[in-house]
Amino acid sequence: MDDPQLTEPELADLEAAVQIALRDRDNAGLNVIGYGEMSIVLGYPFDAPRYACKPSFPYTRQELDAYVQMIDDYVAALRARGLSVAPTQLMEIERGDRFIAYQVQPLFPSETIGDNVLRAAEPDPEHPLLVSLASMMNLVTDRVSFDSQMTNWSWDGETPTLVDVGTPFFWHEDGELVIDLKPLVRAIPAPLRRFVLNDVAPLLARYQVPRNVAIDIVAQLMRIELDEWIEPTITALNAELDQPIDEAEGRASLADDHKSLPRLKRLQKIERTWSTWIRRRSYDYFIQPTSY
Ligand SMILES: Nc1ncnc2c1ncn2[C@@H]1O[C@H](COP(=O)(O)OP(=O)(O)O)[C@@H](O)[C@H]1O
Ligand SMILES: [Mg+2]
Repeated sequence: MDDPQLTEPELADLEAAVQIALRDRDNAGLNVIGYGEMSIVLGYPFDAPRYACKPSFPYTRQELDAYVQMIDDYVAALRARGLSVAPTQLMEIERGDRFIAYQVQPLFPSETIGDNVLRAAEPDPEHPLLVSLASMMNLVTDRVSFDSQMTNWSWDGETPTLVDVGTPFFWHEDGELVIDLKPLVRAIPAPLRRFVLNDVAPLLARYQVPRNVAIDIVAQLMRIELDEWIEPTITALNAELDQPIDEAEGRASLADDHKSLPRLKRLQKIERTWSTWIRRRSYDYFIQPTSY
């Protein structure tokens, strides 16, 4: 595990603010750096952030131990393959009868994050960030992969550093996912969890193939409307792929996301209403405010 950065009292201060935000469904007291599908990235200290802090879902003690071990192993596996990964410290804290792990990273300046780097540059298939990402496609295997979309990298002009290790594209030798998805699907209504569990594993398995990782890079560029970079990115990626990808495949992949993600959000809202109003429990998952 990487060196400590945040202190325990600082973490407690951050967690207290997170609990208030969840209770009030209002993130105004937080410094939100970014949102994922079901996650949130928080700047800390709030007024002059130095760290990017990413709270996990609520876990039982046993689940938490497995989660922390998995992230550690995943980061080590990526680094062993030669990938630069942001220093990621894992810190644990109790929340009621559950536990949260925060991934704490140095906060990279937002202008170094891949999408902002491209936005500030002239579209060019030979942009060194694109060339670097393309060269990484052959690091993808059926055991270890990574979410390569532009928003997940900090670029120092030479090396892209992965900041998103919260979606472990990580499999055991027998093909099973290392991540336990059960804590994740507790965010949605119980009767539907089994179906979502069945859907997610094949969805993630797509990332075991370099070509699909490349298609997703393009799809995510479309999502964030970096349209002028679509062609240059495809050109850069195709230079490293055995079988070229095209724009239509990116569009199709994005269309799939457009179908499944709003549905996930609706299910989260149903579960939040159920657990807070009927069961009188807190709902400890953030629901992404922006629409896909
Ligand atoms: N260490 C960091 N420094 C600066 N910005 C970050 C850092 N980590 C994440 N971000 C920003 O927050 C966004 C979401 O974080 P990420 O780790 O990718 O989570 P998710 O799994 O939700 O996509 C990123 O796309 C990036 O813009
Ligand atoms: Mg991300």
